[in-house]
Amino acid sequence: AGAHTADLVVFGGTGDLAMRKLIPALYHSDRDGRLSPESRVIAMSRGGLTDADFRGKVDAEVRDQVPADDQAGWQRFLGRLHHVSVDVGRDVTGTGTGTGGTDRQGWGALTRLLAGHEQRDRVFYLASPPRTFGPFCRELDEAGLVTPSSRVVLEKPLGHDLTSAQRINDEVGAIFDERQIFRIDHYLGKETVQNLLVLRFANAFLEPIWNSLWIDHVQITAAETVGTPGRRGYYDHAGALRDMVQNHLLQLLTLTAMEPPARSDREAVRDEKVKVLQALRPITGTEADRFTVRGQYVGADDMPGYLDEPASTPPTEASRRVETFTAIRAEVKNWRWAGVPFYLRTGKRMPYRRSEIVVQFKDVPHSIYPGGAPNRLVLRLQPEEGIRLHIMAKEPGAGDVTLKPVPLSLSFGETFSTRVPEAYERLLTDVLAGNPTLFMRRDEVEAAWRWIDPILQAWESQAELPEPYAAGTTGPAGAHELLGRSGRAWHEDD
Ligand code: BG6
Repeated sequence: AGAHTADLVVFGGTGDLAMRKLIPALYHSDRDGRLSPESRVIAMSRGGLTDADFRGKVDAEVRDQVPADDQAGWQRFLGRLHHVSVDVGRDVTGTGTGTGGTDRQGWGALTRLLAGHEQRDRVFYLASPPRTFGPFCRELDEAGLVTPSSRVVLEKPLGHDLTSAQRINDEVGAIFDERQIFRIDHYLGKETVQNLLVLRFANAFLEPIWNSLWIDHVQITAAETVGTPGRRGYYDHAGALRDMVQNHLLQLLTLTAMEPPARSDREAVRDEKVKVLQALRPITGTEADRFTVRGQYVGADDMPGYLDEPASTPPTEASRRVETFTAIRAEVKNWRWAGVPFYLRTGKRMPYRRSEIVVQFKDVPHSIYPGGAPNRLVLRLQPEEGIRLHIMAKEPGAGDVTLKPVPLSLSFGETFSTRVPEAYERLLTDVLAGNPTLFMRRDEVEAAWRWIDPILQAWESQAELPEPYAAGTTGPAGAHELLGRSGRAWHEDD
């Protein structure tokens, strides 16, 4: 019931994202009855694969995620997969001058496959490099494949700065209406992220203290243990600021800082998020020295440094300058948050994989016991999703009152027995249902770039290379000084 019949066309359909995230998410959606039996997944790539080759590839790479009791369902799902070879990418210039000699045969094959199915929901999922977004949309339009109920999904990165993001938005916007455009930030599909809104706006007790009177500062961390093996081609020109902060971390910041929206609908929520981005205090020029830190991991133990990661080409000047870690002291200049630092940090090759939002409250106004510590709320996105409020309690005993911080803890895994869906499942479900609330609106992406751009420019003008940090540690010394200067420290407890 409620299942949509859809043709989902995935550009970059044999790529890493498709194989690791999209195909598994589609399989789970299918298994949970959210795809109708006639729905098809059409992968587009240069691979020259037949349907059978593609199904074999998916079977080999994804089957280990299939429960033993669902082999029949898995076979049925494989039957919905198709592959169309198109030499996409080769002639794509990204300059707005068209795609020149792209493979007409490939587009013809897609056209034939889709013909006669105009009534279905049609989703074009662009999991290909951003320079292809505009050209592909034009090709789809010229081939007459864009129906009124079509949608287009854009994967990150949406450009590499404000100008390129605007150009992509213009190019895609020339073919699709804003309501048909779904810009992915997969962090918005994570359960805890959505729960943050529920925690804030479906409970009464937090909102009155959710401001500068009671909150000392906020920390948003996305730490990863992985390095960047095999990704240098992308990463040299991305770096942690573009790869993680412009999108994921700023999304977490907006949801933490936004005003209560009047409704839970798409525009009301996104309006409030944009206002937060617009209120971010710009960090320009030499301020970047004080408010931002760049780091790059170097080899330690048996882990290679960034420059020694396996890659198809030797490191360049861009490799030496790119940050694999960044920490930023941001400020939201509005009535609610004036004076409250929002510390953002993300890095590769850190000692733990952990994404979390830490809200550090101020100390009690007047203390009558020795040894207290201020309250802290930790929203953990991963590895295990949960919410923890650290409160002061009295340690049992007949002697003097001894205070001890103890957690009030909610683990989603323990509290709810239902399977927690992967971020991409939730987002694909929303795309199929046409609900864009958890996707980034054009003005939102651009507002985020507007804040990031001056930081990028300031970094480019700095002669120094990023500060080295040993692989497997919590980042360079500068990251600790960023908080240490004001007597604060990063939250490192488990
Ligand atoms: C992606 C980045 O957007 O997010 C990757 O490009 C990063 O570099 C990944 O590893 C992290 O996602 P998650 O869901 O594992 O936190």
